[in-house]
Amino acid sequence: MGVSRLVVRPAGPLRGEITVQGAKNSALKLMAACVLAEGRYVLRNVPRISDVDHMLALLDAMRISGRWREDGALEIVRGSDVVPEAPYELVERMRASSAVLGPLLAAMGQARVAMPGGDDFGSRPIDMHLHGLEALGAEFSLTHGMIEGRATQLRGTEVVLEYPSVGATENLLMAGVLADGRTTVQNAAREPEIADLAAFLNRMGGRILGAGSPTITIDGVAELRAVEHTVVPDRIEVATLLTALGVAGGELTLRAVRPDHLDLLIDKLGRMGLRISPEEGGLWAMASGRPRPVDIATLPYPGLATDYLPMLVALLAYADGTSYATENVFSGRFRYVGELARMGAQVRVDGHHLVIDGVRRLSGAPVRAVDIRAGAALVVAALGADGPTTIADAHHIDRGYEHFVERLRGVGVDIERVDSERVDSERID
Ligand code: EPU
Repeated sequence: MGVSRLVVRPAGPLRGEITVQGAKNSALKLMAACVLAEGRYVLRNVPRISDVDHMLALLDAMRISGRWREDGALEIVRGSDVVPEAPYELVERMRASSAVLGPLLAAMGQARVAMPGGDDFGSRPIDMHLHGLEALGAEFSLTHGMIEGRATQLRGTEVVLEYPSVGATENLLMAGVLADGRTTVQNAAREPEIADLAAFLNRMGGRILGAGSPTITIDGVAELRAVEHTVVPDRIEVATLLTALGVAGGELTLRAVRPDHLDLLIDKLGRMGLRISPEEGGLWAMASGRPRPVDIATLPYPGLATDYLPMLVALLAYADGTSYATENVFSGRFRYVGELARMGAQVRVDGHHLVIDGVRRLSGAPVRAVDIRAGAALVVAALGADGPTTIADAHHIDRGYEHFVERLRGVGVDIERVDSERVDSERID
């Protein structure tokens, strides 16, 4: 099997316009929600990324078909013969597969979903998903690595999440929407992708109030129907492009953005010295010179997203001073720091904190993408280096970014993909 690397060479300031893609983390859940009702769905603004291909493979394994239409929309057809099972090979490839648990239980009364294992972020359990669904009346057992769930009729109740987990909130929305009576989720996650899922479910006939706030009320309905929907813009792609601009300098216009989803990010980047101004349906941004150091801490929305942090650290690695960054969401999400260090970044890890001493220039080096955002961060870092950077395992980046290389080239980044045989790919550097 071929593997690909990205080669990035510093090429000066960025210039131009990019239309931002649809949000991966919304699109994947909307696709899972298609389990809920028979019919033909049309999803617009779904990014062409490999995680969407993974979700299509999972739907296919459940006998739900998907195809890209000529107009770029994703059409999903859900018939009556759904196989309520998410096999290990697919769950292991993409943890978001566990999003089918809630809809399968609600629509089919049963689910067999492989238990997700650990990953590069740490153990990442799904206990809150299971406890929430149990409160609604589901019963679970774990056999041979598979979670087997049953629910004759889910019943609405109050669920208090001990932490505003995105995935648990989504599973509860997709289960509660067909439950008998009212489900109230307290301490719900408030990410824009949750509000997008609730909007989709409401369009299907659901009765959900309060999505985007800490209390969501779901009045269960007897039936839902297939609908059309347009996915919200990807705020993480916006963060990637703006941090790239911060390192390379220049001027960018981003189209199809929801600036209201990006308040804190815009504030932090502004403090670093970027000039950003929301415009009708988009953002204009400009950067020059070294960024100023700032302190940042990730938190559930509306806090600063954990997914922004690797890219922000890459930008702060060039700051004119010392910054402190704290990761509060995924404690084990620092593997990219070692890769940045290979490029000469001065970053110390202290528990879940990072101390970043900015340097004027990083040094281009062979590095490895350990996950999607880590890969994006290395590209951001490479833009200001003193020579070429080669990023191995670029397939991680393809999980979350559509036509990444082409889009960046369009705004002046010198980036190319080099495919090579897997022979000794594990030790490419
Ligand atoms: N957690 C538990 N138990 C649970 C669920 C979560 O302990 O039952 C913990 C997790 O281990 C983690 C924290 O709670 O420490 C947050 O997890 P959450 O459930 O909120 O995240 P997620 O649903 O697993 C989604 C995104 C992530 C994003 C996080 C936080 C998708 C497919 N993934 O993950 O996105 O970082 O929310 O916003 O929506 C990415 O796009 O690269 C990515 C990793």
